[in-house]
Amino acid sequence: MIQRTLSIIKPDGVSRNLIGEVIKRIESAGLKIIAMKMIRMNKVQAKGFYQVHEGKPFYESLTDFMSSGPCVVMVLEGDNAIEKYRKLMGATDYRMAEEGTIRREFATDIEKNVVHGSDSPESAHFEIGYFFNQLEIINE
Ligand code: CDP
Ligand code: MG
Repeated sequence: MIQRTLSIIKPDGVSRNLIGEVIKRIESAGLKIIAMKMIRMNKVQAKGFYQVHEGKPFYESLTDFMSSGPCVVMVLEGDNAIEKYRKLMGATDYRMAEEGTIRREFATDIEKNVVHGSDSPESAHFEIGYFFNQLEIINE
């Protein structure tokens, strides 16, 4: 099934020059980038993006981190894109992530784990709409 998912290269990934590395893995996996931009979220915008985590112990620190520098946000499209990209990323906690995944190879911390990917069709719909309007997404 062709799906869309939202990918973010988080501020740690951008500042450590991992943009190319992440994009190379996305393209090699056969996922198409159908929208992309670099943005810098403020605290309020980061809180809005991660509103599902409001109240959790990591919410304040996570939203500080996500608003600490630029991110690259992308819409990826392809067969089973949501799960496929989650597999490329690896588990949230890099110490638990499978060998060869982005987080296992590059994360430095449970929070600073380089990448975000939507976890369901519902969250993908919300997250894509949070950053992109229809004119910014390639439909061909
Ligand atoms: O990003 P993912 O969907 O794998 O994990 P999440 O449970 O939705 O959490 C969102 C983000 O919060 C993670 O990617 C981490 O950056 C951060 N987090 C954290 O700092 N400490 C935790 N115990 C769990 C998540
Ligand atoms: Mg998540």
